Amino acid sequence: MIQQETISSIYDAVRIEEVVGDFVQLKRRGISLIGLCPFHNENTPSFHVSVTKGIYKCFGCGKGGDSVSFIMEHEKSSYPEALKYLAQKYQIAVEETIPNPADLIQNDNRESLLILNKWAKELFAHTLQQNEEGRNIGLSYFNERGFRQDTLVKFELGYAPENRHYLTKAALKEGFKDEFLQHSGLSIKPDTGDLYDRFRGRVMFPIQNLAGKIIGFGGRILKKDEKTAKYLNSPESEVYHKSDTLYGIFQAKKAIREQDVCFLAEGYTDVISLSQSGIENVVASSGTSLTVNQVKLISRFTQNITILYDGDPAGIKASLRGIDMILEEGMNVRVVLFPEGHDPDSYIRSVGSKAFSAYTKEQQKDFIFFKTQVLLGDAGNDPIKRASVIHDILESISKVPDSIAASIYTRQCSNLLEMEESILLAELNKIKLRKAKARPDGSGGNFRSDSPYGSGQQNSALIQTDEGYDSSMHLQFYPDTPTEPIFPDDIQEREVLRMLFNFGNSAYDTAHKTASAYIFMQTEDIEFRHPVHKQLYASLKFQLDQTGKINPDFFTHHEDAGFRKIAVDLLSNPYLLSDNWAVMHGIFVKTEDTLLNVAIENAINHLKMRKVMTMIADNQQKMKNEPKTEVIMELQSIHNILNNIKTSLSKALGVVVLK
Ligand code: CTP
Ligand code: MN
Repeated sequence: MIQQETISSIYDAVRIEEVVGDFVQLKRRGISLIGLCPFHNENTPSFHVSVTKGIYKCFGCGKGGDSVSFIMEHEKSSYPEALKYLAQKYQIAVEETIPNPADLIQNDNRESLLILNKWAKELFAHTLQQNEEGRNIGLSYFNERGFRQDTLVKFELGYAPENRHYLTKAALKEGFKDEFLQHSGLSIKPDTGDLYDRFRGRVMFPIQNLAGKIIGFGGRILKKDEKTAKYLNSPESEVYHKSDTLYGIFQAKKAIREQDVCFLAEGYTDVISLSQSGIENVVASSGTSLTVNQVKLISRFTQNITILYDGDPAGIKASLRGIDMILEEGMNVRVVLFPEGHDPDSYIRSVGSKAFSAYTKEQQKDFIFFKTQVLLGDAGNDPIKRASVIHDILESISKVPDSIAASIYTRQCSNLLEMEESILLAELNKIKLRKAKARPDGSGGNFRSDSPYGSGQQNSALIQTDEGYDSSMHLQFYPDTPTEPIFPDDIQEREVLRMLFNFGNSAYDTAHKTASAYIFMQTEDIEFRHPVHKQLYASLKFQLDQTGKINPDFFTHHEDAGFRKIAVDLLSNPYLLSDNWAVMHGIFVKTEDTLLNVAIENAINHLKMRKVMTMIADNQQKMKNEPKTEVIMELQSIHNILNNIKTSLSKALGVVVLK
């Protein structure tokens, strides 16, 4: 348990833009910051962060919350874990009990694996620095490679001794279970006999995720003429997915954002060497070809990737096609080729960091040109081969989503290819058209849907029918939970709650000091149908009674995820009402505050209208099934009363609307 006081000081310290900014590249737009949503795939940003409200909200997938819920969602962690993470980030002391191995069993698998990996990392690091074999073999190897002590600490490097049971034994003694030792890949279970260590006689490179958690290990063998592979890596596990991981991203992310470019190398040692020399914006794909998820990871911090290639022509050619995928993500790709026999690590060691930087600056080529040169060099003067090169290049260019960038590429390639630009453009359009047709929705891969007939998402939900509101509006409010039961009064209930949340403390008229007092007075007889709305309404009322005002933070910070979600939704829909108005009444509201009274009146009346409509419908249903004339007469008079209310409400709604 974390004490309430500590929780409060965490909430006081956190800054949403810093918390989210560690994982998402944010750009200022108007009063909010926007970026690419880390919770769903998107190429145009719909993820908003409000610094003043301390919340984020994605208008694409609907995810939203405060700093704590961001960490919970992003790191798949529990509420207390998220608090601890933030406490650490802002250097707030949390009184923590040492985890008892027996309790660990209670934790879920993921958490157990992370705890075990962290423990193992510490064991390896300790062994490297303190243990005799570790120092003699591991440490002297790293020293020989020129890794400084601060580098060993920064990358948490370690050593696994030759002894087959070194880690396994210690782990079991510590209370870690067989099961997790196997899952993590740290230990191997033979068909017969005891568990033994996977990593033996190797220097150890812990692999961290974006948040710095250890998710796996790479171990390098030290003996030169060994038959086993040079590197041994952790197997895939619940926490380690090789294709989603970039080595060094945790240490590099800040520099990547600052430099606005990410160097992509191949190996662990490239990352470490460059970082040690002051080039910190570097990550490695760890020897495999790059995946979409890895590119997306980078794209959270920058749109610019510079690939550092070892000088191996065959390998380079094999990787060319994979790079189209980076273009497809709208990123700018440059390529640097190192002299034959060098990788970035060996090159920077031989020439130093200054010359290294100069070299990369000088040698870097735009990917499309690089590819053109490589392929043309191969084709020589063979016309058929040259034609296929042209096609290949245009394929790549067609993947570039930005049409301006694509046309610049085309122009410049026309020189290299000795081909008229207009012919290339015509050919490029053919490729694009073919792709557009191949898509089932006909929307065409790289054609941005700027046209009014585009993605069709806009405002389609704002249709009002005679019966009140079209229930399809519902979808717009719960984009990520379409399976939630639909309560027909949702929209109107939410609108009133939204007024309470956003404007509850605003001054109202003389009779009612605040807007919330007025709203509660007007709605006290109305029962909210949606259970969460009902609860929220009651809590807000209680809050007002107790403290004299509405405090939305209480709900955005609420321990209950349902409350948090709705509170954030309500706070982060500033434009919804004005859009509604614009569409429904043909008027444009500049800001809600200027017409606050009208907005509140409208919200209340829409809610009342909705309730009256429901009552009328119920009443009519009763009349239909009622055999006794007497009762029907009675119901009829109720109907008349309700109908009168309805008429006056629609008048009120009409009157307050400024035409
Ligand atoms: N790799 C691997 N398994 C191997 C060989 C390589 O996982 N058997 C991965 C490692 O992540 C390694 C990267 O591919 O860092 C690049 O391989 P390589 O260039 O051979 O290694 P270096 O990083 O250059 O390591 P060193 O300089 O220590 O030889
Ligand atoms: Mn190397």
